[in-house]
Amino acid sequence: MATSSFITIAVDGGAASGKSSTSRALSTRFNLMHVDTGAHYRTISLALTEAGLTPEDTARVQQILPGLPLGSVVEGRTARLAIHGKAPADESLRTPEINAVVAQFAAIPAVRHYLFDYQRAQVALAREKNFSGLIMEGRDIGSVILPDADLRLFLEADPAARAKRRAAEGRADAVAQRDRIDASRTTAPLTCPNGATRIDSTHLSLEQVVEKIAVLITALLNS
Ligand code: CDP
Repeated sequence: MATSSFITIAVDGGAASGKSSTSRALSTRFNLMHVDTGAHYRTISLALTEAGLTPEDTARVQQILPGLPLGSVVEGRTARLAIHGKAPADESLRTPEINAVVAQFAAIPAVRHYLFDYQRAQVALAREKNFSGLIMEGRDIGSVILPDADLRLFLEADPAARAKRRAAEGRADAVAQRDRIDASRTTAPLTCPNGATRIDSTHLSLEQVVEKIAVLITALLNS
């Protein structure tokens, strides 16, 4: 239950399940700070790749991480991860090269632990910036990062529909393969959190999904 007017919303789901577009639309509608934790893993993957590492170099990854200072840049309603004060542009995070390694880097426990406190601290940042709440999307938000979120959602869509969405965006992305890696890792695997509301968007438009969730948020705000 929301104990104040500030609300926290966790949105989890597989690759291309519509988390980002849905979260962005809700962030605008309810003045919520939007945090895309997939972009966090992509940003770390980019930094590690630029340092010449591959996901097999787990020992070196662990050594290098403490030298990557994490900060936040708030642009509009979106808070982005900055390393050494710089938040990479979205285009450089969504390349086929990063798509191919991000799930493997994200499966390394040291990488996840490095982001844990940073991600939780986004709640305080949203309050400090006077947002009405926070909407955070990822794979382990309702299960691990914000298990006490006021609203926990799990977005689903059948794999063919998700692959089609990515193709329509003109992006090369093996969504089913990333899902397999994400669901089978030992640390914070992709899972529908207990008690989360499942929304299957296979046959729903973005507007219909947003509408369904807006009803839940409005009920929460009036409770
Ligand atoms: O946008 P899309 O659904 O394609 O993926 P993303 O949200 O950008 O996440 C990219 C990758 O980061 C995922 O495939 C996961 O391997 C990883 N990730 C994660 O492990 N935990 C999260 N909370 C968010 C993303």
